[in-house]
Amino acid sequence: MIVKSVVEIEYLKKANRIIAELFEILKKYIKPGITTKELDKIIEDYILSKGGVPSFKGYSPGKHYKPYPASSCISVNEEVIHGIPGDRVLKDGDIVSIDIGTNLSGYYGDAAYTYTVGENVSLDKQRLVNDTYLALMKAIEVAKEGSYLNEIGKAISFFLTPRGYGIVRDYCGHGVGKSLHEEPPVLNYYDPKRKGPKLKKGMVLAIEPMITLGTYKVKTLDDGWTVVTLDGKPAAHWEHSIVITDGEPIILSVI
Ligand code: MF3
Ligand code: CO
Repeated sequence: MIVKSVVEIEYLKKANRIIAELFEILKKYIKPGITTKELDKIIEDYILSKGGVPSFKGYSPGKHYKPYPASSCISVNEEVIHGIPGDRVLKDGDIVSIDIGTNLSGYYGDAAYTYTVGENVSLDKQRLVNDTYLALMKAIEVAKEGSYLNEIGKAISFFLTPRGYGIVRDYCGHGVGKSLHEEPPVLNYYDPKRKGPKLKKGMVLAIEPMITLGTYKVKTLDDGWTVVTLDGKPAAHWEHSIVITDGEPIILSVI
């Protein structure tokens, strides 16, 4: 696990800032009728205009995976993560999570945001989106120097499980820095047997709860990437990259 210097944290802040700006810009485009491919183009163009590189494009977690083909992951309703932008048209009542990765001067930004589309989103879906965001904030609250890593997953699951949500277990958050995925894995559920390490000032973590309105079980579609809920129920995904301090963490992926 790598502790970052003040200078490195400045670079990470810049890489994440591009994403935070995009999440604001995208608000006016997330409307019924737009395709996920059009959104991906806006994202790619903006990252390039800021001198960054869309880091998901061409990314492959191992040689058995085909390289990821787009600049963002756009996952609608039952799609949990890694939705490939394409001809899918957003409809009134959808929820859509947008996960963006940047690389700026060798440092990675990584964050995700779940939007509601139009005026007729069901209360269940609105609650899912809001509660997933609140769970991320609860996790960020406990992520400080001296806490054990598993307090993050504990905060998420103690908030969401009593409310009846499914917590996806097959994917998790991660350290982030000069690589998109660094040690340690950051679980979204509580495992009392995987306590540590203790968090240290200067560690940078991407915390990313993936939460469903039904089962926590997921599967990957034949495109090799798109992860969907096994029961077809909607899912939300929020992610922030944060720096551990001895007080409140610094959230990098905000403006
Ligand atoms: N934000 C995701 C992650 O942290 C997305 C990476 S998958 C990619 O793992 F292929 F799109 F890059
Ligand atoms: Co991530």
